[in-house]
Amino acid sequence: MNPISRRKFLKSLTALGAAAGAPFAFAVRHGGATAAEAAAIEKEAAAFANPLRLPGASGLYGVMRASDLRELRVLRTEVEILPGKRTPYLAYAAEAGGKRFLNPALLAKRGEEIRVRMVNRLQEPTIIHWHGLGNDARNDGNGLYLAEPGKAYEYAFKLQDRASMYFYHPHPHGYIPGQVYHGLASLLFVEDEEEAALRRSLDLALGETEIPLVLQDRNFDAQGRLEYKISREEMFQGFVGGRLLVNLADRPFLSATRRIYRFRILNGSNARTYQLAFLQGGRKLGHYLVGTDGGLLAAPQRVEQAFISPAQRLDLLLDLREANEGRPVTLATLAFDPMHAEGAGGDSMAGMDHGKMGAQQMPAAPMQGMTMEGEPRALLRIDLKSSPAYPRKVPATLSMLPAAKAPSGTPRRIKLAHDGKGKWTINGQTYDAGKNALTVQRGASESWLIENDRASMPHPMHIHGFQFRVLERNGSPAQVRTLAGARGLLPQDLGFTDTVNVWPGESVRVAFDFSHLYSGDQDYVFHCHNLEHAELGMMIRYRVKT
Ligand code: C2O
Ligand code: CU
Ligand code: CU
Repeated sequence: MNPISRRKFLKSLTALGAAAGAPFAFAVRHGGATAAEAAAIEKEAAAFANPLRLPGASGLYGVMRASDLRELRVLRTEVEILPGKRTPYLAYAAEAGGKRFLNPALLAKRGEEIRVRMVNRLQEPTIIHWHGLGNDARNDGNGLYLAEPGKAYEYAFKLQDRASMYFYHPHPHGYIPGQVYHGLASLLFVEDEEEAALRRSLDLALGETEIPLVLQDRNFDAQGRLEYKISREEMFQGFVGGRLLVNLADRPFLSATRRIYRFRILNGSNARTYQLAFLQGGRKLGHYLVGTDGGLLAAPQRVEQAFISPAQRLDLLLDLREANEGRPVTLATLAFDPMHAEGAGGDSMAGMDHGKMGAQQMPAAPMQGMTMEGEPRALLRIDLKSSPAYPRKVPATLSMLPAAKAPSGTPRRIKLAHDGKGKWTINGQTYDAGKNALTVQRGASESWLIENDRASMPHPMHIHGFQFRVLERNGSPAQVRTLAGARGLLPQDLGFTDTVNVWPGESVRVAFDFSHLYSGDQDYVFHCHNLEHAELGMMIRYRVKT
């Protein structure tokens, strides 16, 4: 089903649901779940029977110290995702201390040095990009340098970055969505004193009470192989998979006790956005947003739900003492309007015949095992086991985060639109690997006004080389505005970020500080992290000039 019709489908169901009082209405509603919607999600979660995969001492997502890393081999392997099935998979393989790791979750301290040799054992070029880190261009892995099949690439860089959960994934333009989809991506945790203080004060342990959650949507064939068949119109929308996986577990559950848990969530999907909430007994459970892409906020923000776009991270504290004993809590994605080609009429989807895609062609109920974007669904069931003595409280302050301030001068304008021929554009341009579309001065403070067309889609815009601040949002759609505070800002706009979602019709003003330690011109990219959009050319090169 293509997303335009999905959207009509959602709208028609809203009308139906209101008329017939259907218990599972996919209401496109601002503010999220009704009790009935929540209850339906929780009911779905009750059947989840696969244990959540947790980062362990070795194997897939095994935790290793980045300082022990010598070599990452990019190779083809197999993993078990659907119970009892072997799924061919691409992974980063490493060895340390006699243990083998696949897509290791790397741990490092701020200031530490990473030296690693990437060996490409694939049949196509690849390169690792360290998403969110402020590396020099050579160590950024932005695709301007590649490792051809059989070749290696040496990285050597010092982690200057704030403590946060970063991630690494391939960045060879022309191959990015496919390589990521088939498995290449994992986490990098950078730690510092503030981070350690939070863990101490809440008695958190990675993999036990501090749990990374990687959200990915995938399609499988009958043999359990990943399917990535994508039509041109799906490229234009971005790939949306029918199954929602968490840490490569399908319909997972986690056993927890009634204390504070930390969930560090990465949206590792190619193009799907989620609206996350914790549900119990038909209600949303309030929780705390403590960090974003670029690390801890100054202070925790009480939230009930939050959007998370591809590549974004949310660092959440959930106090399960606020939950009722004896019934599970469900991490869900709530109903929302994915706003694909919003208000486009006929012109945004070149060559597509809207007249033939009426809601009447849609199935009357969601297909088994298929989940559309914006459809409310359970992601993870959390079973509550016991109530240990746990006298700790969410700290009032988290980090020494400077207030975001607007640089003087008129903002640089960045316009997001499409060219009417099936490609998304940044200031009217598509990717040209041979040319810098934009130059900034090293050390400059700049504000950018990123304006998304009304007849557009949400574009999670990501910059390499720097974390930035969000100053204000204007023109946000109602489902976003309802979650926003002063200057239209969302709670997750209060920290450092490397990816900001810009909804159709929205203009988002952001502030950059282009200071870094590297002399000599450094070339990076700025792109949409809807990976299919980037692949179609929604990416520009930019230069930091010394
Ligand atoms: Cu995570 Cu250029 O990307
Ligand atoms: Cu990046
Ligand atoms: Cu996009």
